[in-house]
Amino acid sequence: MAIQPNSETPSAKPNEPAPPSAPEKPLPAPSGPAVIGRLTHQDIPAICALFKKVWDGYRGELPPEMLKTLVPTPLEFTSGMETVTYFAARKDNRFVGVVGVEVAHGSGHIVTLLVDPEQRRQGIARQLAQAALDWAHHANVNSVWVDPLAKFTAAQSLFRALGFTETGLLHRRMWNEDVRLFERVLDR
Ligand SMILES: CC(C)(COP(=O)(O)OP(=O)(O)OC[C@H]1O[C@@H](n2cnc3c(N)ncnc32)[C@H](O)[C@@H]1OP(=O)(O)O)[C@@H](O)C(=O)NCCC(=O)NCCS
Repeated sequence: MAIQPNSETPSAKPNEPAPPSAPEKPLPAPSGPAVIGRLTHQDIPAICALFKKVWDGYRGELPPEMLKTLVPTPLEFTSGMETVTYFAARKDNRFVGVVGVEVAHGSGHIVTLLVDPEQRRQGIARQLAQAALDWAHHANVNSVWVDPLAKFTAAQSLFRALGFTETGLLHRRMWNEDVRLFERVLDR
């Protein structure tokens, strides 16, 4: 196939492949304070993209079957919203974190908490977890529990910092991965 010389690269010779076009510039990381708000149905595609971005970073570290369940399709996420209440953190109108809390049997279960890797250690997860605790309090529950993978030590430090107590360890609970149990009993 004849390749046209690229008019913007005068040194390109005929029959030589054109130099690769400049890669698309990634958007600059959003800055400023994070704003926490309840997730709506129209946010679902962007939130699913955030799940994918976060969990793609764990390929090779977590079992593939687990990664599959951790990255929901928009349809799966939509059906999950029937029982789970989600709050998201936005910066410059981009989603940088999400938390999901499910209220059942008089207690709250934090089922999801994640923050964009580029936005960590700025207090976003703390804000999100606090939103989940406030929601659970508002829903009149007596305690909130969470079950991070034992290898997720950052999450465990976060829950301890938020007043959660470690109450147990489930061996090989999820695809051969140990899970730790944390609870926070709410003052009423
Ligand atoms: C865990 C996670 C949500 C923390 O998000 P984050 O926005 O960086 O956390 P914050 O900045 O709000 O941190 C709050 C506190 O948590 C603890 N913490 C957070 N990240 C930590 C880390 N890498 N190492 C040790 N402690 C950590 C600290 O006590 C921190 O307070 P400090 O910054 O004043 O020391 C994030 O690392 C993540 O998405 N991890 C992958 C998914 C995951 O583990 N989810 C939890 C499943 S239940």
